[in-house]
Amino acid sequence: RTQPEQKLRTSHFCDPLTHLSCSPKFLYVARNAKDCMVSYYHFYRMSQVLPEPGTWDEYFETFINGKVSWGSWFDHVKGWWEIRDKYQILFLFYEDMKRDPKHEIQKVMQFMGKNLDEDVVDKIVQETSFEKMKENPMTNRSTVPKSILDQSISPFMRKGTVGDWKKHFTVAQNERFDEIYKQKMGRTSLNFCMEL
Ligand SMILES: *[C@@H]1O[C@H](CO)[C@@H](O)[C@H](O)[C@H]1NC(C)=O
Repeated sequence: RTQPEQKLRTSHFCDPLTHLSCSPKFLYVARNAKDCMVSYYHFYRMSQVLPEPGTWDEYFETFINGKVSWGSWFDHVKGWWEIRDKYQILFLFYEDMKRDPKHEIQKVMQFMGKNLDEDVVDKIVQETSFEKMKENPMTNRSTVPKSILDQSISPFMRKGTVGDWKKHFTVAQNERFDEIYKQKMGRTSLNFCMEL
């Protein structure tokens, strides 16, 4: 006789690599590389636990070379994009969330198998706006000590806009970045919105 317990365990064994139905769900939000670089630069400046970012020009090189915490933007985004259909991954874009938050929240809702009333969705839209989250102590990191995040240097939630990179990139940096972007991202079907 097989042990019931053992049988249960066997029948529940599930390899997430081959069984979509039991794999965890991943929600991935990608943001265009240029705004990411700007955001990350200001985060590096205010973080007291990351290395000094140096000047913007210096950080520009660091970012391009992927020598930042959590690795190269190019590898990260491309990597998740390439496997998005292989696992349960909802791949969202920051720019879409800014343009039409309700639509993107509904995508998350469907992905999570939920069906929420319209007024609940509207409430989520309001409460997750940048302006609201900036004033929400549960999300604005105001409880994190200054020795870790110094918000007097730059707030954790800074601007939350699309296209702020234009105020940071020089014309030469922009041309160089576009060239490097093409080399690194080359053949992906990924298409980012750079301004709204
Ligand atoms: C975080 O939210 C609290 C409560 O609204 C507010 O007093 C504080 O100024 C906010 N902090 C930052 C850094 O925006």
